Amino acid sequence: MDIRTYDQVDPEQVLRLNLMALNYPLTPEVAAEGRRLDPRVTPEFALYAVEGGLVVGQVGMFEAPVMTREGPARAGALWAVATHPEHGRGGVARALIVEAHRRMRERGARFVTLGTSRYRVAHSLYLSLGYSDLRLLATAFSPIGGPARPGPASARPGLTASPLPSAEEHLLGVVHDQAAAGWLGFTSRPPHFANILRAWGESISAFIITDEDEEGAADRAASRAVGYALTSSTEPVVTVAEFEVVPSTDPGRAAVAIARAFPDKRLRIRAVMRDAYRQSMPAAGFEVVHPDWGTLMAASLDGTPPDEVRRLLGVDENLFNCGFFDIT
Ligand SMILES: CC(C)(COP(=O)(O)OP(=O)(O)OC[C@H]1O[C@@H](n2cnc3c(N)ncnc32)[C@H](O)[C@@H]1OP(=O)(O)O)[C@@H](O)C(=O)NCCC(=O)NCCS
Repeated sequence: MDIRTYDQVDPEQVLRLNLMALNYPLTPEVAAEGRRLDPRVTPEFALYAVEGGLVVGQVGMFEAPVMTREGPARAGALWAVATHPEHGRGGVARALIVEAHRRMRERGARFVTLGTSRYRVAHSLYLSLGYSDLRLLATAFSPIGGPARPGPASARPGLTASPLPSAEEHLLGVVHDQAAAGWLGFTSRPPHFANILRAWGESISAFIITDEDEEGAADRAASRAVGYALTSSTEPVVTVAEFEVVPSTDPGRAAVAIARAFPDKRLRIRAVMRDAYRQSMPAAGFEVVHPDWGTLMAASLDGTPPDEVRRLLGVDENLFNCGFFDIT
């Protein structure tokens, strides 16, 4: 088995492998657009296992900055781990991941993360390679047929979620930076992250949450923006892939505002990461399932024990920031 990079293999075989294993249309065009826009892409893009001229396995690679208690560090991330079904259970994924780790370590990455489901066989593969669950994810559901039930959280309708024109999408970065300030983990992102997700094939719509009670707003959107939501099209259910609010805003009220933007739809909010978000949502009428099947896993690349990785990233003190964009 040879290990090659994306540019050394047939991109049409790569597409078929991704469709087969992950239902992911990783066309050469998607790869080119991802490379153009996403600063997390590594020189390899992804590693491939090749046997007898056939692409039989893949591991996608990212590298990005993270904030730790000891200051900025570099983290790797894996995405789209896939093996051709005819070559399963032959050590293909294991070999590719070990090589990806080696390359990331060589370039100075301290940790590596990935998102998966605990029910997938991949979860045990990752556990056997030194990963552990850094954060179990949560999902919230709005009551069927409308926004939150009447209650204290919905009594003040001051927050409104409205579609954000693409020309104003820099506001997403502004709000993200305010929401993540002082946190650890994935605190800095490229400001055009919604476009980056679109480049990878996500059909993302951006909503800005504004506080109509805020006074003195010359620039309407910028000065009243207290949050954002990224929704993805999963008709007939609306999925909120991620939402963030600035520290002064109650996440439950923001969730109600998002639900109000879709009055006739069932709404699910995925990857509710912060405890404060989770805790404020039941009062706003949402049902929260925690943990759901989703997990953000992490492994150390420099021998740091798992407990120390958690401490460095502030996971157990609830200082760890992370969202849909970061869960690869
Ligand atoms: C997950 C996947 C990449 C594993 O690839 P693979 O090349 O078969 O895995 P390897 O042979 O390198 O690793 C095997 C380890 O993974 C786990 N594993 C793999 N397939 C398994 C299965 N069918 N049942 C249980 N465990 C399994 C085991 O821990 C195994 O170790 P072992 O063989 O020593 O017991 C492959 O099953 C796949 O492509 N699945 C569909 C796509 C997917 O779910 N990707 C993960 C996205 S997060």
